[in-house]
Amino acid sequence: MDDVTDFVFREIVATTAKPDVIFTEFTSTDGLFSRGHDKVIRKLRFSECQRSIVAQIWGANPENFEKAGKYIAELGFDGIDINMGCPDKGVIKKKSGSALIGNYKLAGELIDAVKKGAPNLPLSVKTRLATDQGSTKEWLSFLLSKNIDALILHGRNAKDSKNPANWEEIGQAVELKNAINPKALLIGNGDVTSYKEVLEKHKTYGVDGVMVGRAIFQDPWVFEKNSEALVHSTEKYLGLLIRHTKLFSETWGKTKNFNIMKKFFKVYVRDFVGADNLRIQLMVCKNYEELAFVLQPTPLVGV
Ligand SMILES: Cc1cc2nc3c(=O)[nH]c(=O)nc-3n(C[C@H](O)[C@H](O)[C@H](O)COP(=O)(O)O)c2cc1C
Repeated sequence: MDDVTDFVFREIVATTAKPDVIFTEFTSTDGLFSRGHDKVIRKLRFSECQRSIVAQIWGANPENFEKAGKYIAELGFDGIDINMGCPDKGVIKKKSGSALIGNYKLAGELIDAVKKGAPNLPLSVKTRLATDQGSTKEWLSFLLSKNIDALILHGRNAKDSKNPANWEEIGQAVELKNAINPKALLIGNGDVTSYKEVLEKHKTYGVDGVMVGRAIFQDPWVFEKNSEALVHSTEKYLGLLIRHTKLFSETWGKTKNFNIMKKFFKVYVRDFVGADNLRIQLMVCKNYEELAFVLQPTPLVGV
């Protein structure tokens, strides 16, 4: 998730409750080979404890996709994922992300280019539903006919951010996959918040796996198999906040705006008496030292 699952947060997740596979933020293939390379490459930093680690890329230039494939293989990633689902206006304007849905020629060229650059790395495509069922079937059939190892399907179309993810359509995609490319994995995505739900989706819809995104904002231990049964103390939450912020500061120094850290405060400072007030105090902190100072004398009340 862009500006969320950076190196630092991935490190926190990997060492707190680790999923089987971790994806980077989406990384611009054009940016990788531009003057902005040094900034863009930060998105592809990883450590051994984050394996299996997959680099997600976006863009629309096959030449850069081939180069990106080669580069990502050299960096030692475990796989590459092409984003063909992002609905962001800036991304769509560049014929990328969800703008590729239905653009068979370019989408095919991008897949082939990555395969050429990284012939030995597993390749997945993450996409969304098209605007109607017929077009979705056509689009997914096309992707599954390509040389990909996994298809990750977010059960919404690019214009829909409010309705629940459509798992019935994800189930139909599984049937399509079994008919067209049974060796590929079909990973469903949308609204899943626990391992128990992952198992339910597997049982009901036959998906080979589930990608989980926003649930991490509700529970940093969401990837524990029994996450719903776990109760964590306030000290544990605040300890994670301190560790996360310290690593953010050590890793990025002044190269990243400290405000990026603030979107995580709600993840850790919650569900105890005084949490709202503490968050207000933390929001004015400008760096790790100020945050540590605010947290030091905090009397903790309940869980
Ligand atoms: C802040 C934010 C950033 C995201 N960035 C990306 C991204 O970089 N690449 C991507 O494929 N999806 C991205 N997504 C979409 C999620 O990966 C996921 O498809 C979507 O949130 C639905 O799954 P969920 O209900 O498990 O969160 C992002 C979502 C959010 C909320």
